[in-house]
Amino acid sequence: MDKKAVSIRRAIHTDAAGIARLTNECFADESEYIEADPETESSVASATNEHGFYLVAIESGELVGCVYVDLERRTIFKLAVDPSRRLNGIGRHLMAAAEEHGRGAGWPTFTIGVLNFKTYLFEVYGRLGYTATQRRGCVRALVRRPCHIVVMTKPVA
Ligand SMILES: CC(C)(COP(=O)(O)OP(=O)(O)OC[C@H]1O[C@@H](n2cnc3c(N)ncnc32)[C@H](O)[C@@H]1OP(=O)(O)O)[C@@H](O)C(=O)NCCC(=O)NCCS
Repeated sequence: MDKKAVSIRRAIHTDAAGIARLTNECFADESEYIEADPETESSVASATNEHGFYLVAIESGELVGCVYVDLERRTIFKLAVDPSRRLNGIGRHLMAAAEEHGRGAGWPTFTIGVLNFKTYLFEVYGRLGYTATQRRGCVRALVRRPCHIVVMTKPVA
């Protein structure tokens, strides 16, 4: 990736609508399996508090990626990159920035969760140093088709 062209920063309130649009687009493929409320400008804004925050990737002034750092659950969620900008290292860059915040907060491990039917993600996170450690049910969403979450972790170096 051309790191000069893409910068990562903490999201501000004016990013909320763009984050909602991007995450709804990037997670649309999950709706066949689980039913979850779509994100809105206000749901994104209200998720930014003492318990967590979004980081965003900005390229030429455009929001092209995001990730949520959940300080309360010590977990990284909602990694998403604009489909037209994938395979350019933006996801890796966002994860590194999220992990940096986790490291600073004293997390013992980095943790993410992958829905089992999104099989390509095992390759993505494997390449980022994560390994599958646990299986969990989808407790936060209504399940339409049988599926589960694979928890993947990475030691904090
Ligand atoms: C997952 C996602 C964020 C990756 O974003 P990205 O910017 O394309 O990722 P990167 O270019 O940084 O790639 C990271 C690594 O994963 C690999 N990779 C990326 N997409 C891949 C794919 N579809 N299949 C296999 N490997 C892939 C890359 O080759 C790279 O490895 P390398 O650096 O060793 O070459 C993006 O595909 C996405 O938004 N998916 C939909 C949302 C989603 O499901 N997010 C996961 C939430 S748990």
